[in-house]
Amino acid sequence: MKRRGVFISIEGGEKAGKTTQAGLLAGYLRSRGFDVVLTREPGGTPAGEAIRHILLHKQDAGLNAVSEVLLFAASRGQLVEEVVRPALRDGRVVVADRYVDSSLAYQAYGLGLPLQNVLAVNEWATGSLWPDLTVLLDLPNLAVTQTRPRSGPADRIERRSRQFHERLLEGYRTLAATYKDRYVVVDASGPVDEVSRAVQAAVLSRVTGEEVPGR
Ligand SMILES: Nc1ncnc2c1ncn2[C@@H]1O[C@H](COP(=O)(O)OP(=O)(O)OP(=O)(O)O)[C@@H](O)[C@H]1O
Ligand SMILES: [Mg+2]
Repeated sequence: MKRRGVFISIEGGEKAGKTTQAGLLAGYLRSRGFDVVLTREPGGTPAGEAIRHILLHKQDAGLNAVSEVLLFAASRGQLVEEVVRPALRDGRVVVADRYVDSSLAYQAYGLGLPLQNVLAVNEWATGSLWPDLTVLLDLPNLAVTQTRPRSGPADRIERRSRQFHERLLEGYRTLAATYKDRYVVVDASGPVDEVSRAVQAAVLSRVTGEEVPGR
């Protein structure tokens, strides 16, 4: 019987290097013979991409905080049903550029919504699918990323206050301490290749330990 695949999420604040490291990790795991699916949030399905546009780029939609949580969860639920669960059923490795913890960090810790509510909505949307491993790309402070270039204009959420971004970084650390078994914290302030080696080391033992099918 086929074994279930492995689900890895990459988390962190703005410009922590999530997309860079998710791509490098996917390439590394593929070079070691793993069958990898890379996802990003919000988006990754037709409904999810439409929701992404509202969440990130519609400055004038008047979205309130609760609607924001529900829309992120809706996009995530679509992604889980259409992409993540089928990939895991096929024994593949899923590398997710953001997942539920982003909502906990941004909307619960960052915006101050009740953690239990954000958690409950996401449990419902994902059918309680949690990653096997979550890599937190941790930054000691926001100044580290201020020199990093952005790919386009700041989106609706990036434009929030410095305090919002500091609260969410602290929130991620609280999550890592709460869910110790699932989390690995990597210092993301160094050069890309140094961070990448740390991510690979953290992930490989977990992935091989799971005896990924076909190997
Ligand atoms: N360790 C690093 N050192 C210096 N620059 C980096 C590092 N990691 C990524 N960068 C650069 O910083 C920018 C942001 O990186 P990236 O897009 O991977 O971050 P992100 O966490 O996905 O950001 P976002 O929150 O906007 O999705 C990119 O231009 C990238 O090339
Ligand atoms: Mg990114």
